[in-house]
Amino acid sequence: MTIQFNDETFRNDYTFRNSDWAIKRFPFPFHEDSYMYSVNMEQHQGGPKGSIYEKRFDVDEHYLAEMKDRALVLAEDPLRCQSLPHMTLAGWDLLELIMISKSEDYPDLFKLHRNGNNWRWINKPMGIDDSFVFMDEATLPYGPMEYITRQTQGDFAVLDQRDDNLWMDAGMVTTQADWSLDFDIGMNFFEWHAPVPKAHEMGIFVRALKFLLNIQQGMPARRLNWTMTVNPLLDTSPENYHKWGIQKTTLTPENVGEKQYLRVELQTFFRLPRSNALVFPIRCYLIALQDLTTVPKWGRRLHRVIRDLPEELATYKGFIDNRPMIVDYLSKFDDGLPTSDGI
Ligand code: HEM
Repeated sequence: MTIQFNDETFRNDYTFRNSDWAIKRFPFPFHEDSYMYSVNMEQHQGGPKGSIYEKRFDVDEHYLAEMKDRALVLAEDPLRCQSLPHMTLAGWDLLELIMISKSEDYPDLFKLHRNGNNWRWINKPMGIDDSFVFMDEATLPYGPMEYITRQTQGDFAVLDQRDDNLWMDAGMVTTQADWSLDFDIGMNFFEWHAPVPKAHEMGIFVRALKFLLNIQQGMPARRLNWTMTVNPLLDTSPENYHKWGIQKTTLTPENVGEKQYLRVELQTFFRLPRSNALVFPIRCYLIALQDLTTVPKWGRRLHRVIRDLPEELATYKGFIDNRPMIVDYLSKFDDGLPTSDGI
């Protein structure tokens, strides 16, 4: 289908909206009526037609608006994009992966012409037509990772693999759920996960790392993660907490359906060919509770999940104070029927 790109904002007047199509394909993340951390990894080899899993890098109606928002964040804070010197090769690997994937998966939107190392990249929605020499940084306006991730929805952590661990040595992070690339740069898998409650004791990170270290080229994997955000904000970074943290206090019983969003991250994992780095794209999907509850089984299940979520998780995810109001709102959509019909 042809994508109609929305003219919308993720700040100030918050004109972000999901079409009926976007609501229908929203990645509702709960497969049962309760939630706890787990090593919820699966292969990322496509999915049902039209679903967010169909393509390697999903492009949807929010593409242009998300890229504009990223440019605004970077203009204010260039440290949202960092690449340690040994990660440039991984940046080229990532540029190649995204250009090939997007030009194959969306031939009407993206084109890649290759003649040896002389490449031409056409990004029609963004009006970009650049010729450059693959592996020659001087021929691009930015480093390779920054160049391609300014044109691709989602955050990107690029991990170096050494000493049986992963190291956050590069990334483009402007749409994150309250963590900072500038703080985490150079950390390893256990260090950057240190603030997460419960999961360490459950052995989740030891098992997850083992899985990740063994991911092979051409065999990407994925998982979903989720949290809650007041207003359709992409940039919920610690750097800008003073701007968005206060907005949590504006929730009222009258506006909760409109202002409270479920925030779901599609996290994927790809092995990169030359550098052997692992790239971790984190794609954020937002949905207002009033839209989510148009699907009765989602409203019913979300009510039970939020109501029964362990306190440590609701605190870590930042909605403990607003939980009673959210649960009260969602309870109106829970008729007590079983949700065993799946999601
Ligand atoms: C949270 C990065 C893979 C499980 C986080 C956080 C970061 C992060 C930066 C936020 C920590 C904070 O509060 O400062 C990454 C990166 C990964 C990766 C770069 C890829 C190499 C995984 C995997 C799992 C996992 C494979 C489990 C199977 C979690 C969980 C949280 C978390 C459970 C808490 C999320 C929440 O409750 O909202 N991750 N992660 N991560 N990560 Fe990862």
